[in-house]
Amino acid sequence: MEANTTETKKTMLSGIQPSGDLHLGNYLGAIKNWSGRSDEFDCFYFMADLHAITVRQNPADLRRRTLEQLAQYIACGLDPEKNTLFIQSHVHQHAELGWVLGCFTMFGELSRMTQFKDKSAKHQDNINGGLFTYPSLMAADILLYQPDFVPVGADQKQHVELTRNIVQRFNGVYGDVFKMPEFYSTKEGARVMCLTAPENKMSKSAPEGCVFLMEKPEDIARKFKRAITDSDTEHCVRFDAENKPGVSNLMNIYAAVTGKGMDEIETEFDGQGYGTFKTAVGEAVIETLRPIREEATRILSDKAYLESVYRNGAEKASRVAEKTLRKVYKKVGFIPR
Ligand code: TRP
Repeated sequence: MEANTTETKKTMLSGIQPSGDLHLGNYLGAIKNWSGRSDEFDCFYFMADLHAITVRQNPADLRRRTLEQLAQYIACGLDPEKNTLFIQSHVHQHAELGWVLGCFTMFGELSRMTQFKDKSAKHQDNINGGLFTYPSLMAADILLYQPDFVPVGADQKQHVELTRNIVQRFNGVYGDVFKMPEFYSTKEGARVMCLTAPENKMSKSAPEGCVFLMEKPEDIARKFKRAITDSDTEHCVRFDAENKPGVSNLMNIYAAVTGKGMDEIETEFDGQGYGTFKTAVGEAVIETLRPIREEATRILSDKAYLESVYRNGAEKASRVAEKTLRKVYKKVGFIPR
């Protein structure tokens, strides 16, 4: 029965760059909703370490982050028994297909990628070839697994579109080799804003306004106590994203972690000051993140377990990837060894 259900399930694949520590915005906005997907889809997730080195990384940090992120995803509910979790560099087919697809990606197309333009503006001293050809590797990441859907944020849509162009070009020459993947808009969960500047999205680049998944409870409490509320005169907990962005952001967070509705929250804090409210939001967040932090810490200290997860994941991924790569090599005219 098991085999049967996986066969009829559609496939999904997404990569995650191990380039920063995960925070509450990542969790409430996205990760939290991922665990349920495996009921409906056959899901592949990988830590995109090959992609990460397009900007300089400290090797020790890259190692730490790769494992930490994997542990945190598992702790957030991505069950390795139900999802294929692996590390990109463990599956050599990514780099190999990446090369082939680079020969089917046009200079003009790559030049139009907004992420390339943004990143090369940001890292002017290191505009390397990998940064430029990154979308060909991403196309390879995707096409090796013949997925139906690629769930990514809007910033990655352009890369998925490019992947679709590559499919069309490649299949146009060699026949139906790749399945045409579709961009799957990750229906945003809560949109979490920066605690100190609620007009911006929560981001690791503003650490005082950002709550990290692995952060200590006392630090989380402090950040919420210092969160910006609004300088309106009514001084009450009321949802009004436009005129009360600070309070509304805190209400959004509180709603996301408690499951309460906005009306309910307004009633709960009726007649109380912002101080009480901020403390309550902080506590609710601490209690939401506590089991995740504890579980991630436990997994990280269980090296044998973590290793077994990424080893099994890579094995399963390699099997699928190898099948596609063989087909591609044959089609383009390489001699089988
Ligand atoms: N480029 C993606 C990002 O920066 C990460 C990524 C790499 C990815 N390969 C992928 C996402 C394949 C989806 C599919 O977020």
